[in-house]
Amino acid sequence: MIETAYIREVGLRDGLQMVKTILPTAHKLAFARAAAEAGIPEIEATSFVPPHVIPQFADAAEVAVGLADLRTAAVSTLVVNLKGAVRAFDAGQSKVNYVVSASETHSLSNARRSTDAALEEFRLIVAERRARGLKATVSLCCGIATAFGCTLQGEVPEDRVVEIAETLARDGADELMAADTVGYANPRQVGHLFGRIAAATGGLPLAAHFHDTRGLGLANVVAALEAGVRRFDASIGGLGGCPFAPGASGNINTEDCAHLLEALGFDTGIDIDALIALRRKVESWLPGERFSGGVSRAGLPRTFHRAAARAA
Ligand code: COA
Ligand code: ZN
Repeated sequence: MIETAYIREVGLRDGLQMVKTILPTAHKLAFARAAAEAGIPEIEATSFVPPHVIPQFADAAEVAVGLADLRTAAVSTLVVNLKGAVRAFDAGQSKVNYVVSASETHSLSNARRSTDAALEEFRLIVAERRARGLKATVSLCCGIATAFGCTLQGEVPEDRVVEIAETLARDGADELMAADTVGYANPRQVGHLFGRIAAATGGLPLAAHFHDTRGLGLANVVAALEAGVRRFDASIGGLGGCPFAPGASGNINTEDCAHLLEALGFDTGIDIDALIALRRKVESWLPGERFSGGVSRAGLPRTFHRAAARAA
C-alpha cells in the first residue's frame, strides 16, 4: 500500500514573518484557499503574537475566522505564549502550534523567557484547553526550535532536546515537531535526533521543520523519512526565517519538497503545477522578496508521475 507524507504549508506564517510588505488579509485568505485547492493538507495560516512585535500578523483573528469554513485542509496557527493560545482558542482554531526553543539564548531572544519557563507556559496552555472543554476538538502541536543548533548559542545538547520532547509529550502535546530554525542540521544529525525522540515519546506523531540555509534542507527530509517522520513543514517559494535568530533564512521549498516526496513514492495529495501557479501569484504580491526553488524554475521532469498514479 502506498504511504502518505504530509506537508504543512508555513508560508503564511514563517514565510511572512520576515517580510516587511504587509500582505492584505484578502491575499492571505486567497493564498490559503489556493494551497488547500492544490491539495496541501495543513496550512499554518497566521501567528497570534503581539502586533507590535510582528505587525504582519495584526490580522491574525481575521485570517483565522476567514478560513473557518475551509474543509479541504486543516488550518493551524502559531502561538508563543498563553495569551496567544487564548486568542487562537477564541478565534475557534482547531489546531494550535506552540513553540519552545531548546537554546536558552534563542528562547530569551524569541519569547523573552527561559526554556523551562516556556515549558511551564505550555502546561498553562494545556490547562486552558482543558478548562474550556476543548481537549477532544483542539489539538496542540509543540515545536522545539533550534533543536539542531543556534546562531546565538552555538551547540544545543541533543540530550536537552530529547528531555524537552519527553516533557512536552508527558504534559499533553498531541504532535511534536523538531525545528532547524537556523539551517544548521545535517542528515546524520537529523536521523539520530529523530530516532531518539521517537524512542522517547512513544508513537506521538513527529514533524520536521527545516530551513535550507546551507543547502541541506531536502537531504534532511530524506534522513527524517528514514527515521520514520512523515510530516514536513515547507514554504511556497522557500520564503521564511526567524526574525529573532540572526542569519536565519528560508524554509525548504514546498514545490521541491512535494516533488521529492512523490518521487520517493509517498502520496502527498499535492498538485505541484497548481502550487507553482500559486507561487507565481505570491511572487507578484511580494516584489523584492527572495524566492527559491528548482522545480518552479526547471519544471517537472517529463518522466514524473505522482506516486498514487504509479501505484494505481
Ligand atoms: N498577543 C497579543 N498581545 C500580547 C500577546 C499575544 N500573544 N502576548 C503578550 N501581549 C501583550 C501583553 O498584553 C502586553 O501588552 P500591554 O503592554 O498593553 O500590557 C505586552 O504584549 C507585553 O506582554 P508580556 O507578557 O510582558 O510579553 P513580553 O514583552 O515578555 O514578550 C512575547 C513575550 C512572547 C509576547 C514576545 O517575546 C513575542 O511576541 N515573541 C514572538 C516571537 C516570534 O513570533 N517568533 C517567531 C516565531 S517562533
Ligand atoms: Zn522556521
